[in-house]
Amino acid sequence: MSGEQSSLSSSLSFTSASPAASASAISLYARATPGFDQRVAETVELLRNASAKYGKGLVQSSSLGVEDMVITDLISRHQLPVAVATLDTGRLHAETLALLPQIEQRYDLKVQVFSPVHDAVVNFVRVRGEDAMYDSLALRKECCAIRKLEPLGRMLDGRSAWITGLRREQSTNRAEVPFVEFDHVGRVKLNALAAWSWADVWHYIQTFDVPYNALHDQFMPSIGCAPCTRAISVGEDFRSGRWWWESEDAKECGLHKAHSNEDLKKNPGAPA
Ligand code: ADX
Ligand code: SF4
Repeated sequence: MSGEQSSLSSSLSFTSASPAASASAISLYARATPGFDQRVAETVELLRNASAKYGKGLVQSSSLGVEDMVITDLISRHQLPVAVATLDTGRLHAETLALLPQIEQRYDLKVQVFSPVHDAVVNFVRVRGEDAMYDSLALRKECCAIRKLEPLGRMLDGRSAWITGLRREQSTNRAEVPFVEFDHVGRVKLNALAAWSWADVWHYIQTFDVPYNALHDQFMPSIGCAPCTRAISVGEDFRSGRWWWESEDAKECGLHKAHSNEDLKKNPGAPA
């Protein structure tokens, strides 16, 4: 059992979560653990160096999930001139979208919103149906390609580096996520919270009173599009509520494609 699973299992006191169930994620998960200050300091240094190095070429890609809220708070708290952008797939929960005005108010920051090409969505839905993602893996991936990957391409166009909230603890697929890597096209990708635990994330949220998605209080630790996200139960893996009908191997949408990190060692331009 992963550390994530064991921390979730030990923190939750129910046997089956329903979407109606709720409990404060802060009270369930926030915990100060040794090394927290050090992990925050490392992340701040990474963000600061990247901002100095890439300037306007740097963007935070935010899903508006809790990890990304921590990063946006750090960017703002340390007055780093980093753009924040999100992909609005058109299938996000109302609770997710509700964070946009909250971020604007709290941080005086306009989140850049990238949406899919209207005609591509209309055509896909007309031919394949609104909920084609359940019909086959190929159609699910096609939906992700139209609603996420194409807009991601536009978000990253002209950028030299992007910041994500990927953490090693999130899944076995992500167990070796480095702080700095190359994405599949060789752009620098900074996984600013790579070494943070779930307890760290919520400890930060609690300490700095950071706004977060209300769905995290409904046993949804990992939140994507509404049709492809559900609440999890005790003992279930962190990402088991994402594309829950698919096998473990398939559970990525393509935003974070595998690539060779050997290349990173050869890149003199990457921040250490
Ligand atoms: S996903 O690939 O399964 O959807 P996940 O939800 O775990 O990814 O999020 C990991 C990171 O991917 C986030 O911290 C964020 O950097 C980026 N990301 C995911 N979804 C979005 C989105 N809708 N808009 C912008 N960035 C996103
Ligand atoms: Fe479509 Fe689901 Fe992918 Fe969102 S996560 S783009 S709704 S298949």
